[in-house]
Amino acid sequence: MTVKQDIEDLKQTIHQHDHHYYVKNSPTILDQEYDALLRRLRELEAAHPEYVTPDSPTQRVGGKVDERFKAVMHPVPMLSLDNTYNIDEVRAFHQRVLKGLPDIPEDSIEYVVELKFDGLAVALTYEDGLLVRGATRGDGLQGEDITANLRTLRSIPLKIDTEPFKRIEVRGEVYMPKKEFVRINAEREAEGETPFANPRNAAAGALRLLDPAITAQRKLDIFIYAVGFLDSNPFETHRELQEQLAALRFPINEHNRLCGNFESTLSLIEEFRDKRKEFDYEVDGLVIQLNSLAHRKQLGETSKFPRWAVAYKYEAEQAVTEIMNIVCQVGRTGSITPVAELQPVLISGSTVSRATLHNEDEIKRKDIRVGDRVVIEKAGEIIPKVIRVIEPSGDREMPFKMPTVCPECQSSVYRAEGEVVLRCVNSACPAQLKERLKHFSSRKAMDIDHFGPAVIEQLVDSGRVKNFSDLYTLKLGEVASLERMADKSAQNLVSAIEKSKLAGLSRFLFGLGVRHVGQRTAILLSRRFRSIKVLQETSYDELEKNDEIGPVIAESLKAFLDRDTNRQEIDRLRELGILMEEQGEAPESGGPFESQQFVLTGTLTRFTREEVKEKIQSLGGRVTTSISKKTDYVVAGTSAGSKLEKAQQLGIPVLDEEALQKLMENG
Ligand code: IVH
Repeated sequence: MTVKQDIEDLKQTIHQHDHHYYVKNSPTILDQEYDALLRRLRELEAAHPEYVTPDSPTQRVGGKVDERFKAVMHPVPMLSLDNTYNIDEVRAFHQRVLKGLPDIPEDSIEYVVELKFDGLAVALTYEDGLLVRGATRGDGLQGEDITANLRTLRSIPLKIDTEPFKRIEVRGEVYMPKKEFVRINAEREAEGETPFANPRNAAAGALRLLDPAITAQRKLDIFIYAVGFLDSNPFETHRELQEQLAALRFPINEHNRLCGNFESTLSLIEEFRDKRKEFDYEVDGLVIQLNSLAHRKQLGETSKFPRWAVAYKYEAEQAVTEIMNIVCQVGRTGSITPVAELQPVLISGSTVSRATLHNEDEIKRKDIRVGDRVVIEKAGEIIPKVIRVIEPSGDREMPFKMPTVCPECQSSVYRAEGEVVLRCVNSACPAQLKERLKHFSSRKAMDIDHFGPAVIEQLVDSGRVKNFSDLYTLKLGEVASLERMADKSAQNLVSAIEKSKLAGLSRFLFGLGVRHVGQRTAILLSRRFRSIKVLQETSYDELEKNDEIGPVIAESLKAFLDRDTNRQEIDRLRELGILMEEQGEAPESGGPFESQQFVLTGTLTRFTREEVKEKIQSLGGRVTTSISKKTDYVVAGTSAGSKLEKAQQLGIPVLDEEALQKLMENG
């Protein structure tokens, strides 16, 4: 078998497994086996870059997008649907359908009912079987080209059979699974960033990122529900068309139903009212549409909506309760957020006693005051928010005003240019300090067990702990004398604190809680710079030169490290024995080149050897000097000699600089 054929077969096999895994949710091989296939394909492609094609599963994450997405015209406008909110309105829709199809007997009118996903509509164009374009809906006539980002969704086929369509544009809804939404928001909060209000906004944000590698991490998914453009249409019904799409391996939702008569569409509305909450994606209603394409044609469209379909929207879960108090929470980065304390109330199956009020403007706009009875709603069924006042309290309290000083430490507050968030200026603010200590000791940071909120509270309030370093001077006796602290727990906590000294550079960096330096960035930084000392001496420009470290991160980090108090604190922590250097020769885990060994030989022309080495290391790989069976790749420049020969003898893939660069870009 030729290498080319080998590569083709691997691509096919991997596409099939992707389909089983991401579309049918029933993988047929083990993850390790899958990884091995992908790895083999990467190796073959690295050795034969001439056979790398855009539909290869290794090519999902491509180059960066420009500062702006290109505008694209839709070949057929992307209409939206007329919304209905009750059964009467749905009946009225059916009556309009009957009127528009006077020659068709009512009992031969079929409807298809589908879930209405709450995400973002996109259009995917395939030419000669290849995905050539992915676009947002935009204003319906013109959208934005987000092909590079959409390619990262693993349930979107990069290649389909060319039969029966040479050119086809399918449409669907991109969404963020609820689980992923929860995960990402937790991560954002840990990094001092504002969480997304709902999965839809989170998905929209991820689709408009300029770096597809980051979109790829957001685990977006898609359901295809319709076709925009088709070069030939041999089908009579929507169902037949969808079956064809499913056969082409597009992800079609499993709950779609065919209804032989109108009345049964109504029972589906009831059936899915509660059931939809169990799905891992947001469903805000149902789409009710004619099955026959001929009937659709006969009815036609208005300028905005098709006359053959309607959306039924479920009312959002709401409840009425009273605002007991409005308090301000101070976060780790000093952000001050108003929060309503509510008379506890049950909504979507859980008791809610607090709701975010976002910011002052929002409170003013809705004129929300203590004592008011308000409607609260679970936006996207997840985070409760106050929608409106339905009954102001009898003797109205004064309108809420954001504090002019920090509610916890009475220092002044400020609003940074271009931000809505108010912040406390005092980095020693006890509320901030408590949050920072929680973060510092958390699992992903220094991982200090037995260091709960009650302990933090006492240590900060008594003034015993004013910064991270104070933790490391705590004596067993002091800890044991805290309230509700058994001797055994005190001992455990002291050992946990001691153990954390060796947590390592990346955990320490993450634990410091520098704004915009999340776990991933911390790992990247420690891999690349190897010690806090080096980082402290690195200029803004040097920082910014690194992949994935943009101006925002670089600036935030630089400002943090340059501040005198932080320098002193880091020095003190070092004296107390906290490990601030990356250990070992090279990183062991993480990164696309994880545990892969490279040998460089010959004269490199594009980059210096040092640069190439650093780059490989920053991606998690190792560079060694001699070739062995453990070597994964040999990078050969011009006039490479004996090492190149040895590589060929051992059958180790040899990369020229161009192939190496490709491999680096595509992981
Ligand atoms: S069919 C002519 N099916 O809802 C439009 N749309 O207001 C045909 N949507 O823009 C759309 N799930 O983004 C259809 N199963 C589904 C859908 C769905 C969500 C969205 C879509 C559309 C909007 C309609």
